[in-house]
Amino acid sequence: MKILVVFYSRSGRTKKIAEAISDILKCDKEEIFDLKNRKGIPGFLSAGTDANLRKLTAIKEIKNNPSLYDLVIIGTPVWSSNISTPIRTYLSLYKDNFKEVAFFCTRLGSDIEKVFADMEGICQKNPIALLALTSREVARDQYMQKVKEFIKKVKEETAK
Ligand SMILES: Cc1cc2nc3c(=O)[nH]c(=O)nc-3n(C[C@H](O)[C@H](O)[C@H](O)COP(=O)(O)O)c2cc1C
Repeated sequence: MKILVVFYSRSGRTKKIAEAISDILKCDKEEIFDLKNRKGIPGFLSAGTDANLRKLTAIKEIKNNPSLYDLVIIGTPVWSSNISTPIRTYLSLYKDNFKEVAFFCTRLGSDIEKVFADMEGICQKNPIALLALTSREVARDQYMQKVKEFIKKVKEETAK
């Protein structure tokens, strides 16, 4: 089973989870880079506005063709109660190339049902597993239990 972990991370939290998942699964990972500058306060404001308006952005060319993987695990931070703009872009570009998907996100505290439902809607695929963590859990290194449960679910579903 070939698995790819794809993620975007503006400030490192989602990246930490992506690395934990790919380390345990010993699988490839792909970081998505936004060509629009999201640094500092102007970047924060543009990120919030773009996500809220469900805009797309330009992302750096990807290295791994998702259609070569049995499962693509996609992670995003929540921006303005929405999918982050770079991951919305990635999903929009490659939605027809996924065999199976699983999703994870990090956020301060927002509800994530809408975000996951939106990701599912774009991919037109039921995710086989979901993982949501708060920034606090990530910052305090209190995420491993949930990450392991997520991976257990991934393994159960892919073994069917
Ligand atoms: C522009 C912007 C908007 C955000 N909006 C929300 C939000 O609506 N709800 C929430 O719980 N967290 C929100 N956050 C917090 C991030 O989702 C959270 O800090 C996340 O863990 C950051 O992940 P990263 O370090 O991988 O970029 C927002 C962060 C940014 C930069």
